Amino acid sequence: GGGGYVPNVDFSFDGMFGSYDQMQLQRGLQVYTEICAACHGMKFVPIRTLHDEGGPALPEDQVRAYAETIELWDPTLNDGEGDYRVATPADNFPENNSVNAPDLSLMAKARAGFHGPYGLGINQLMKGMGGPEYIVALLTGYEDPPACAPDDFDGSYNTVFAVGGYPDECKDADGNHTVPGSWIGMGQPLWGDDVEYADGHATDLQHVSEDVAAFLMWTAEPKLNDRKQSGLTAVIFLALLSVLLYLTNKRLWAPIK
Ligand code: HEM
Repeated sequence: GGGGYVPNVDFSFDGMFGSYDQMQLQRGLQVYTEICAACHGMKFVPIRTLHDEGGPALPEDQVRAYAETIELWDPTLNDGEGDYRVATPADNFPENNSVNAPDLSLMAKARAGFHGPYGLGINQLMKGMGGPEYIVALLTGYEDPPACAPDDFDGSYNTVFAVGGYPDECKDADGNHTVPGSWIGMGQPLWGDDVEYADGHATDLQHVSEDVAAFLMWTAEPKLNDRKQSGLTAVIFLALLSVLLYLTNKRLWAPIK
């Protein structure tokens, strides 16, 4: 069975000159904190990196204040028996295994958004990796279950999620799926107007989904801005070098002609 169609999103970080939109990352952090973190963890992301240039770039006092809102389990406390304590910027975001929700630190790179034509991944090459687009499509891909499905079928129907449960009643005689997507263990987490943004940005379902997807792209690829910068510098440098080598070469061989 396959997932549904993943539409492209024009993210600020797409393309050769793209970079993260600091305000969007801050909004995405808010969505993650207020909604996703109830079930998901982000154990590979150090809290202090919220201060990084090229990331959300929160002022240091705000990063400290943010850390203080997080309680985490410290196994070294209480004579090795462990205890809860307030986090500091030196800690990573906590894990969260409460409902078997996967860790989201690297999710935007673990999922490809664009496939085809013919599964060749050409769209992925042309439009970017697509992980954040996949997350947007997933978050906006919930629908009422199709009529073919039994009422008590486990999970929520999502038109994009490819690998969840799928009722036999929705397969044709050859076993092919008659409706896109599958049934996912995550109930629809976003509905629109789930958060209130300090910057007044739109909070409809599409925009909030884009913000949290951009944020998760940053957690998975925090050095993207730097990488693009040095890539560009390298290209300019190599272009200059080729011109110089060409001229040197001409000059060197001129007497031989
Ligand atoms: C799975 C994102 C909120 C529970 C996932 C996946 C993503 C994701 C990307 C992986 C899908 C895949 O495997 O392709 C988010 C985001 C959230 C959010 C961005 C906030 C906006 C929540 C909440 C809960 C939850 C609030 C619990 C009430 C789960 C579970 C799975 C999951 C149980 C595994 C589903 C399965 O494999 O069937 N989530 N999630 N998520 N999420 Fe969330």
